[in-house]
Amino acid sequence: MSTVWLIASGKGGVGKSTLAAGLGVSLGREGQRVCVVDADLGLRNADMLLGLSDRVVYDLMDVAKSGCAPEQALIAVPGEEQVFLLPASQFARAKDLDPKDFRHVIRGLRESFDQILIDCPAGTERGLRGAMACEPDRALVVATPDDVSLRDAEQLCGLIRKKALPGPQLLVNRLRPELIRTGEMISAAAAAAALDCPLLGEIPEDPLVYRALLRHLRVTDVDCAATRAFARIAQRMCGGEVPLPDYGRRPEGLLRRLFRRAPKEVRILDH
Ligand SMILES: Nc1ncnc2c1ncn2[C@@H]1O[C@H](COP(=O)(O)OP(=O)(O)O)[C@@H](O)[C@H]1O
Ligand SMILES: [Mg+2]
Repeated sequence: MSTVWLIASGKGGVGKSTLAAGLGVSLGREGQRVCVVDADLGLRNADMLLGLSDRVVYDLMDVAKSGCAPEQALIAVPGEEQVFLLPASQFARAKDLDPKDFRHVIRGLRESFDQILIDCPAGTERGLRGAMACEPDRALVVATPDDVSLRDAEQLCGLIRKKALPGPQLLVNRLRPELIRTGEMISAAAAAAALDCPLLGEIPEDPLVYRALLRHLRVTDVDCAATRAFARIAQRMCGGEVPLPDYGRRPEGLLRRLFRRAPKEVRILDH
């Protein structure tokens, strides 16, 4: 039995592709056979995040429209035996892919994979609506803990419910425990309550995520807090009961509290 996961967000740049790549590899390490599908036509980047940018020959559009066999387009992630990428086309646009063709491609992949992760285009427009046609089993909404992203996530949750897709689950990315403790940033649990959406996972802001990108490494090749969060979420996606870390809500140890620097005042500029 395969599970198809939509990975979507209202606002762009919140970490969908980073999560698709990180969760794809983490699920592979859980023994799952995984396909990451880059459905962000014209803006592909899952290939880069999985270290495969120089290996793309055929892509999703070739499979959907030109009769290319999926096996020809799928790229194996080196060192991660069970993880594959179906890359997006760099030149196609959302309107070029018929949702029915996309559904047909995903149905075909279900026969060979346990977990299929669809890295969706941002927003609630045509690109996402096309991706939604793939009969997903789960819809993951990615948001960062700020009002702009959360308002867009609310719109997206509304659309998912309206389309009668499986109820959305929330992933909150780029959490800063120290800002949650000072009350400046909303916690993942509070964000989930505000959106009335079950929380599947929370990922801290981690400078190593960006440094891995700068050094052309996969995020799962570095040992960091974000990678450990991906591993926990992957276990949860496989049905494991892994407690949520609840960043910023756990009481700090005495030593940390004593030596914690006071938060810098935000200086407001006079005009
Ligand atoms: N947890 C994190 N900590 C630090 N940087 C992150 C984190 N998650 C994502 N990023 C950075 O945010 C940027 C946008 O991520 P990306 O996955 O491309 O977003 P999207 O696919 O939603 O547009 C990238 O530079 C990525 O390295
Ligand atoms: Mg992306």
